[in-house]
Amino acid sequence: MRQHVNPLSHFYQQPRPLPPPAELFSLSELPLHLDIGCARGRFLLAMAKHQPNCNYLGVEIRGALVDAAEADRQALGLGNLHFLFCNANISLQDWLGALPAGLLQRVTIQFPDPWFKQKHQKRRVLQPALLLALAGAMGPGRELFIQSDVLALITPMVQLIEASGGFDRPAADGRPWRASNPLAVPTERETYVLSQGLPVYRVLYQRNDRNLEDQLVAIDNRA
Ligand SMILES: C[S@@+](CC[C@H](N)C(=O)[O-])C[C@H]1O[C@@H](n2cnc3c(N)ncnc32)[C@H](O)[C@@H]1O
Repeated sequence: MRQHVNPLSHFYQQPRPLPPPAELFSLSELPLHLDIGCARGRFLLAMAKHQPNCNYLGVEIRGALVDAAEADRQALGLGNLHFLFCNANISLQDWLGALPAGLLQRVTIQFPDPWFKQKHQKRRVLQPALLLALAGAMGPGRELFIQSDVLALITPMVQLIEASGGFDRPAADGRPWRASNPLAVPTERETYVLSQGLPVYRVLYQRNDRNLEDQLVAIDNRA
């Protein structure tokens, strides 16, 4: 299986439609957890079993992984979980704008592809426009959790989120990184990294009540 696809390539620029929430979940009014770059979906399959009173939506740019994750979900009969193929940087803005107000409870971006080379950094998933769309769909107190084993990747993510002014860290959290994962289930990449004895860098943010549009447009224009 190829490790990466280029999200900027022509093939991935086509926006995908978001099915109505009632087609995605048995109880569409439950709080929603969105996992961006869910890969094979094992984290969400376990979370959805563990927390049946929450809906889980995994989005992933590699279609074969989405098909395999959806097959597992159906075999397990999980009505509070769905996997969708999309380029998060192309489709999520509209999808988030279409969600009923207050539904989005938590967003996770876990071990995103690092794209180390300077000329490839525009391929990284957390770009100002995506952060703006997420912030617009998240009410005060809603959570944004990021984690990675790559310091050179998570540091600019932290800088972007904090420069936006729209998110705060819970006061009790460690600085600069949380000591532990606040979620009940580790991701596949997390399990592998920890098994190698390597560090994981994590931050849990909460949306505040500040409007960050002007701030982020300025950041986007500088990028
Ligand atoms: C390194 S994997 C991590 C998977 C999982 N979150 C974990 O922690 O095990 C990153 C995933 O993000 C997906 N991805 C990268 N860019 C994306 C984009 N623009 N939209 C949706 N998914 C994307 C990749 O295809 C890959 O499956």
